[in-house]
Amino acid sequence: MRLTRLTATHLQAVEALERAVFSNPWSAKALELLCTERAFGFVVMQEDKAAAYGGMLTVLDEGQITNIATHPHHRRRGYAAMVLQALLGEARERGIAFVTLEVRASNAPAIALYQKFGFEAVGTRKRFYTNPTEDALVMQCTLTHL
Ligand SMILES: CC(C)(COP(=O)(O)OP(=O)(O)OC[C@H]1O[C@@H](n2cnc3c(N)ncnc32)[C@H](O)[C@@H]1OP(=O)(O)O)[C@@H](O)C(=O)NCCC(=O)NCCS
Repeated sequence: MRLTRLTATHLQAVEALERAVFSNPWSAKALELLCTERAFGFVVMQEDKAAAYGGMLTVLDEGQITNIATHPHHRRRGYAAMVLQALLGEARERGIAFVTLEVRASNAPAIALYQKFGFEAVGTRKRFYTNPTEDALVMQCTLTHL
């Protein structure tokens, strides 16, 4: 198991992970966005497969988490926590002041993960998700710079 920065070499593996986890998965082509200048990602690789990954887009001093996912076979081993810690560490290094994200309102595991890292609910977006339709909870974390 190794945590590494997401690069173009990981896109097929992460696409397979997206398909295993989400009803509207990101394609390898869409994931290329995370390898551009104003975005980044981290992936936990197990041999040639992606066990977990997460991405962040940045605009000025704001970061937005695109997705975090752990393959169902690898859950509750701390992989998502490792990915989120790496994302927030990189965000700090890039001078990001606060990070936002949307999460399905019923997604208790993800909400618990984000709360553990200091995210708080700041609003909702009605019917934000499809397949199935559901509200999004908007969460935000202010980064402290030492
Ligand atoms: C949410 C998700 C990413 C967590 O991945 P994971 O690798 O299993 O999480 P970790 O083992 O790193 O857990 C870190 C913390 O998250 C929380 N957590 C994770 N899974 C949980 C669960 N099933 N129930 C409650 N809390 C949970 C806990 O606070 C946990 O800390 P703890 O183990 O000390 O209690 C994973 O369940 C997943 O991929 N879900 C589907 C995709 C998804 O919903 N992504 C978020 C989209 S915004």
